[in-house]
Amino acid sequence: MAKRIDVKDLNIYYGDFLAVAEVGMAVEPRSVTAFIGPSGCGKSTFLRTLNRMHEVIPGARVEGTVAMDGVDLYGDGVDPVAVRRNVGMVFQRPNPFPTMSIAENVLAGVRLNNRKISKGDANDLVESALQGANLWKEVKDRLARPGSSLSGGQQQRLCIARAIAVKPQVLLMDEPCSALDPISTLAIEDLIAELKNDYTIVIVTHNMQQAARVSDRTAFFNIAGTGMPGRLIEVGPTGTMFSAPTQRATEDYISGRFG
Ligand SMILES: Nc1ncnc2c1ncn2[C@@H]1O[C@H](COP(=O)(O)OP(=O)(O)OP(=O)(O)O)[C@@H](O)[C@H]1O
Ligand SMILES: [Mg+2]
Repeated sequence: MAKRIDVKDLNIYYGDFLAVAEVGMAVEPRSVTAFIGPSGCGKSTFLRTLNRMHEVIPGARVEGTVAMDGVDLYGDGVDPVAVRRNVGMVFQRPNPFPTMSIAENVLAGVRLNNRKISKGDANDLVESALQGANLWKEVKDRLARPGSSLSGGQQQRLCIARAIAVKPQVLLMDEPCSALDPISTLAIEDLIAELKNDYTIVIVTHNMQQAARVSDRTAFFNIAGTGMPGRLIEVGPTGTMFSAPTQRATEDYISGRFG
């Protein structure tokens, strides 16, 4: 079910402001792609164009193409709601519905999509999604407790369970570990390593070690100055990007000389 994404000549605007310019890159299926770069260079903005969440912001628009297995997500007749169902997203701060039970949190996306499912199927789905998110063992005896009763790391895995319960083809993660302790971070990283067998995964991270640990390919974005658009500087296999980047700016960034 994993899909390939091909981005061509993508310009991303907020009203008149060109936030990200001329991005062209491929995101390979069944692999993890990391987006790195200094604050404000447009990583989150670009990530949100991959499931058409960007357009939710008034005045926000794109030029160019984002093709999933060859089909332009911005083409005529493409339903953005269907796109968001196929391309799931996990955010920086775990955002389970606080009063909803753990089980209902897992099912929230499925219910939102108006899919009627039987009680038995719902139970099976809750278990498989929580297994997939590596949380089942910790919560199986308290599925009726509220989502807010979990630790931050557990809440983030609950959000991942909610995202994978709708069986997306691509999973986008925007700094999913930035609010987590090192142990929970490693748990999420292990989970990402497992999920990539089935999904196409894109992760934004400020943590260079994390990018090096979890990703197969890394894309470095940069910004020349305030008010200027962010740009993709280079993208390649993570090992090469960290050991022998072709661009000076990439080397400076990953070695901590700026950013
Ligand atoms: N909703 C918005 N409306 C207008 N401009 C926005 C909006 N969101 C982001 N921007 C602008 O777009 C540019 C890119 O922001 P973005 O959040 O994508 O950067 P980022 O690389 O994710 O940064 P960070 O590492 O801090 O999360 C910035 O100049 C930002 O101010
Ligand atoms: Mg961001």
